Amino acid sequence: MLPTCISSTANSRHSSTSSDVTDPPNVSLDNSLRGNTQTAFERIENFFDAFFGGTDNPLRHLGALGLYFLWILVATGLYLYTVLDTSIEGVYTSIGHLSQQQWYLGGILRSLHRYASDAFVLVMMLHLVREWAYGRYYGFRLYSWITGVPLIWLAYISGIGGYWIVWDRLAQYSAIATTELLDWLPFFNEPTARNFLAPDSINDRIFTVLVFIHIGIPLMLILGLWAHVNRISRVDYLPSRRVMLATMTSFLVLAAIKPALSEAPANLALVPANLPLDWFILFIHPLTDITSPAAVWALIFGATILLFALPFLPHPKAQPIALVDAANCNGCSRCHADCPYEAVTMAAHPYKPGHQIAVVDPDLCAGCGICAGSCPSSTPFRSQEKLVTGIDMPQQPVDVTRQQLEAQLAQLRTQPAGAAKLVVFGCDKGADVRRLASADTAAISLLCTGMLPPSFIEYALRSGVDGVLVTGCREGGCDFRLGMQWTQERLAHQREPHLRSLVPQDRLRIVYASRSESKQLAAAAEEFRTQLETQAVSSTRPPAYSRRKSHHG
Ligand code: HEM
Ligand code: SF4
Ligand code: SF4
Repeated sequence: MLPTCISSTANSRHSSTSSDVTDPPNVSLDNSLRGNTQTAFERIENFFDAFFGGTDNPLRHLGALGLYFLWILVATGLYLYTVLDTSIEGVYTSIGHLSQQQWYLGGILRSLHRYASDAFVLVMMLHLVREWAYGRYYGFRLYSWITGVPLIWLAYISGIGGYWIVWDRLAQYSAIATTELLDWLPFFNEPTARNFLAPDSINDRIFTVLVFIHIGIPLMLILGLWAHVNRISRVDYLPSRRVMLATMTSFLVLAAIKPALSEAPANLALVPANLPLDWFILFIHPLTDITSPAAVWALIFGATILLFALPFLPHPKAQPIALVDAANCNGCSRCHADCPYEAVTMAAHPYKPGHQIAVVDPDLCAGCGICAGSCPSSTPFRSQEKLVTGIDMPQQPVDVTRQQLEAQLAQLRTQPAGAAKLVVFGCDKGADVRRLASADTAAISLLCTGMLPPSFIEYALRSGVDGVLVTGCREGGCDFRLGMQWTQERLAHQREPHLRSLVPQDRLRIVYASRSESKQLAAAAEEFRTQLETQAVSSTRPPAYSRRKSHHG
């Protein structure tokens, strides 16, 4: 039976040469600005990594931090709602009561609510800029990006509406400023600001509506967030415990030093002045004051249209997607479990009764190759001359990786004994391993380190090299989210396909190095080589192996 390629729909993105997938220079209008922002992010992230490590680096987990802040907002908001009296007379005093009489509980929860909302919009905007800077806004990420844009509106509407509920002078200022801004739009027949200008026009119903907005919009935000992460697997739902503890402690300290308090009660006979502004959420008001409503609306609508349009502007071509080979797929579903973008589903095998087969959705596939690394058939020990695997990447098939490895191993064998011989496996998105290639070092760059089947490490060591170095980005830095995590777990025997225990751990080194850390990677490789040459590295080597080539399938 001839191998069959399976994907769920006609595949318009497969079978291109490697030149198709390299980024053409300056294809994107925003290339240089984006490149500089990415470099700035990388530098700060590397700096934070040195202190916190990848797991606890907040910049690497901004989405998760946003979700954590949202849960704080929901929990504290529920308590605040229970004590809120939504009558015109009761609203100010009921909130004030929290801070004055119940400072030890209600007051703290109110402060937590305020600081978490500031932190939420801050991390949301940082998350947006970071995703853009790393070029994560088009192709298979289009859906996450487009569903992210309305969240910004929802977050700001909830935040601004929250300030109104207090009905103090700040609320009065914000409400009037907002309605004046709204009045500029041609949608309103009569000026809405008028409702807030005359004392007798404020009534209980307005507060009920405000509370509804302040609760209804966040519910829409939660729904929107569910849609936002709907297409990715194993979502980073919460930051690490240490990060949660540290941020919560900071909020509590802030709550103690500068508790959230109300201003004087609203008085529509007076024009509020000298108010302390929340610049994270209410910055739009001074911006309107120093420009004009027209300029602010132009900025808001312009930015929204630009964000929606960004994924459709010219950008590098999409990677070809993974292809399934029916003859070599045994339906084990490891690729389904490992795919970071839920692109693999399992279906009935076309000609193996009772078996399943992997099916790739071309719209969801990121072209990362992680599935090829998880397939049990992706082992270089197979004897066929042409290695055909259950699932593979047309731009860099596992067979080509084996050929590259074998050619480089043959080259290493021609070198005189002396310096320890290394094989380095890395990733096109991280530190460039090709720069390490030398007479004593074979270097292979994959689409993602998660594409490396662990059996390649055993194969290299059993073919005579002294050590294997695997490099990839730190947690939260993997361009394909889970590549390095799966690699780590596979090499630590915690995930299939696992590295066989006959591989001595002291001949294997994992080094985390992002795109900008090539020097650190080179230094780590040299340090590993010296250790292999001089230290008491286990003399045990896995048994030598030489593949007997077979021409049978
Ligand atoms: C409202 C606040 C937001 C929260 C709490 C949030 C949260 C998240 C989370 C938890 C993830 C998954 C991260 C992972 O597991 O790797 C994610 C992914 C993503 N978010 Fe957001 N997000 C928010 C707003 C936005 C906005 C405004 C944008 C851009 C317009 C955006 C763009 C993206 C993109 C492109 C991804 C996919 C990343 C990837 O595939 O590697 N998000 N977000
Ligand atoms: S693991 Fe990567 S290449 Fe494989 S199907 Fe999923 S997104 Fe596509
Ligand atoms: S990992 Fe390989 S064998 Fe298993 S289901 Fe996926 S393609 Fe088939």
